[in-house]
Amino acid sequence: MLTRIPRTAMAATRLSTIQRHLSSTSATSAHKVERMTVFGAGLMGAGIAQVGAQNGMKVILSDVTDKALENGLNIISKSLGRVGKKAQPDDVEGFISKVMQNIETTTDAAKAVEDADLVVEAIIESLKVKRDLFGFIDTKAQPSCIFATNTSSLSVSEIAESCSEERRAKFAGLHFFNPVPAMKLVEIIKTKETDQATYDALMEVTKRMKKNPVTCKDTPGFIVNRLLVPYMLEAVRMVERGDATAEDIDQAMELGAGYPMGPFKLLDFVGLDTASYIAGGWREKAAKDPSVISQELVQESPLLEKLVKEGNLGRKSGKGFHDYSK
Ligand code: CAA
Ligand code: NAD
Repeated sequence: MLTRIPRTAMAATRLSTIQRHLSSTSATSAHKVERMTVFGAGLMGAGIAQVGAQNGMKVILSDVTDKALENGLNIISKSLGRVGKKAQPDDVEGFISKVMQNIETTTDAAKAVEDADLVVEAIIESLKVKRDLFGFIDTKAQPSCIFATNTSSLSVSEIAESCSEERRAKFAGLHFFNPVPAMKLVEIIKTKETDQATYDALMEVTKRMKKNPVTCKDTPGFIVNRLLVPYMLEAVRMVERGDATAEDIDQAMELGAGYPMGPFKLLDFVGLDTASYIAGGWREKAAKDPSVISQELVQESPLLEKLVKEGNLGRKSGKGFHDYSK
């Protein structure tokens, strides 16, 4: 069920949707994002919804269960508590409640997109699941609506194949970093089909969210993960070989290389399931075409896979390479 806004407001919203649609068909007008729908209320989706709402956008957060939505709202209010302590120290509760008023939630994917200017997908890192979602909402969203995926490692073009040719021109990668409210970077991925107006609109909305955008081609891992993920996987292999302990490797990279978190703390922070999905997807790519990504970078790690099978997914489950239960 969607937490609805009043009917009069809805009528005005529909009118403005029509106006926006008409104006977006004009070649000269830019598509300004006012209403954003975020799919996936996990670590990333909650953060993306929060920064949108914090910067004045009307946001709908959608997930498959009410429990997942509740989890997302908890992540957001906790994070807003931290932001509010600086932004509005005299009235943190007032700050949280003002931002929360910009967020509605629903498990109904069709309703979630009917008035959206921009959809940002942040669901699990599975090509099939992402394609199923985009294929479905392609027929429900306005033709002018921009679709963006927050994928860490999958091909944006391959995800976009689930949509019509017209939508593929409005489809791009919009890759945020964890924790979204604190990390300044967003990677914008323009595929061969993404049109310039869509790219420009994403640059504009990213800056409005007070992020710094960089641009990358649709290549595995884009900029950051192409460098970061092989580094984290090699750290796991060091432990598997018995070269050093996870604790010592973390300490070495924090104190010797100035990283804010060592690779194991970072793996636990990102989620071991997500790291495993990324590596598995790249192994499939490397097997088909090693010129896209090298096999050596993404060899399977038995220790990582064992932890994922046991349900030890990192911070979100209370245990991963480190224990967070205490
Ligand atoms: N919500 C809101 N604000 C937050 C926050 C959150 N969840 N987490 C941290 N912050 C803010 C803090 O309030 C603080 O703000 P001020 O400077 O204004 O006081 C600031 O961030 C620093 O936080 P802390 O002082 O609590 O702690 P810290 O200095 O140890 O920083 C950290 C925490 C920002 C998470 C830091 O440890 C860090 O940068 N870690 C590495 C994170 C990283 O590499 N992320 C990328 C992961 S890869 C990825 O995301 C891509 C992918 O596809 C997998
Ligand atoms: P997560 O496991 O915390 O959350 C995923 C959410 O998606 C869950 O709440 C799940 O219920 C929901 N979901 C699954 N299928 C859905 C569907 N069909 N419709 C709506 N919701 C659905 O995952 P996350 O860490 O937030 O990652 C989400 C995406 O962001 C992935 O593509 C991941 O690769 C990417 N990403 C992750 C990080 C990170 O550090 N964790 C950083 C950048 C990008």
